Amino acid sequence: MIAGGLLLHSARMQPVLDYLHAHRARFEEELCEYLRLPSVSAQSHHAKDMRATAVWVVQHCRAIGLKARKHATDFHPIVTATTPKRPGKRPHFVVYGHYDVQPPEPLHEWKSPPFEPTIRNGAIYARGATDNKGQHFAHLKAVEAFLKTGTELPCDLTFVIEGEEEVGSESLMKFIRIKKRELKCDAVVVSDTGMPSKKHPALTYSLRGVVAMEVAVRGPKADLHSGIYGGSVDNPALVLSQILAALRDKKGRITVPGFYEKVQKLSAYERKQMKRLPINERQYRKLVGVPKLFGESGYTHHEQRSARPTLEINGLTSGYQGEGGKTIVPAWARAKITCRLVPDQDPRTICRLLKKQLKKLCPPTVKLEIEEGHGAEPYLVPPTGPQAQAALSALREAFGHEPVLLREGGSIPIITEFKSVLGADSLLLGLALPDDNLHSPNEKFDLDCFHNGAEMSARLWPKLAAA
Ligand code: BES
Ligand code: MN
Repeated sequence: MIAGGLLLHSARMQPVLDYLHAHRARFEEELCEYLRLPSVSAQSHHAKDMRATAVWVVQHCRAIGLKARKHATDFHPIVTATTPKRPGKRPHFVVYGHYDVQPPEPLHEWKSPPFEPTIRNGAIYARGATDNKGQHFAHLKAVEAFLKTGTELPCDLTFVIEGEEEVGSESLMKFIRIKKRELKCDAVVVSDTGMPSKKHPALTYSLRGVVAMEVAVRGPKADLHSGIYGGSVDNPALVLSQILAALRDKKGRITVPGFYEKVQKLSAYERKQMKRLPINERQYRKLVGVPKLFGESGYTHHEQRSARPTLEINGLTSGYQGEGGKTIVPAWARAKITCRLVPDQDPRTICRLLKKQLKKLCPPTVKLEIEEGHGAEPYLVPPTGPQAQAALSALREAFGHEPVLLREGGSIPIITEFKSVLGADSLLLGLALPDDNLHSPNEKFDLDCFHNGAEMSARLWPKLAAA
């Protein structure tokens, strides 16, 4: 019965796979068209581009045979698209992705402009190429192949493509609560993570959470002459530097009291699995281009960046940044801070602990202002069930290599909400390579990852529907 079922699946799959192969060049052109739209969610001057991109996605979904809609929100629109309704009950899966991208700055570091997609060395270079337009586009192409070859899909699919992932997914959090009934599903499929190499396709079973805040230190009412006043008023830039420096010790441990309290220890099994991953310390050091690696002692770089929490300064500014010198005591200094969190740390608790410590470290010579930002909970679902097996099998067949199980260091804020609101686990089937430059200049998406990703998606649906 099982063998017969599988045979049937593979026989039915052939036209779908042939279609994906025959239309590769067109898919690449369409992805370039998508990447030309500068959908930067964090920058308000791109608000119109955000709407235009949502419209583009709706129109594209309609063209491939989906029923698609744009939903207005308080911020950036959400797009949903469903496979045509058929009688009878089938498994239902949600495919999640985001059309918003990170700011492209610094622009002069790009070899080709961020919103002029360029194909070189077997990859498409553009902001958003891998994070995340290329990755969810691969899933759209797989569905197109089913619909255009008249091959019956063994399940119903709903695509949810949002425009606020890079800024915290606030609108989508409200949306899935309102649309709980329509979005009820057997699992969520997401390609918005990575794989260690093309020979190591990956199923990710854990993501870190995040908590963000902005800190300002205010001193004198205006920038002051540092010769006339310096020495008698405190310097906000120095104060902020001292506060921030005190948040971490020399061994890479965060010094905020209580920070590690809820951190789950890595099991011996997980540590052993991580040792099997490619990319040794030397290769990793070269990839990121640092003179020497740094991290919490007692952990490998894989562990440090996926299973341990961190505190980072993302931006730091104060005083005069222009040409030449300027002898002042600056009026203020600001920093953007984020922490990456691991199970079972809670973003709200960590935010509270961090604020408390910042206040404690601040001297009375300046005023401290703290603005809370977005947060996301850490995610971990053991990859042991039949759905995980289905995903691993689709990865194996499409990439021709044995897949690995990964914990990833990045965050996707909506994933834990899918779990708590819809009760659905997420299968994280990432297509990004370690050198894809996510959030950096010269972001790219490898064309093999794109096409194998579409094949993986096509092969996934029969397996997942049967799981
Ligand atoms: N695709 C990334 C998340 C990611 C990247 C997970 C690589 C695993 C491996 C996603 O688009 C992202 O960047 N998310 C933000 C969320 C934040 C702004 C709340 C992140 O992780 O910084
Ligand atoms: Mn991102």
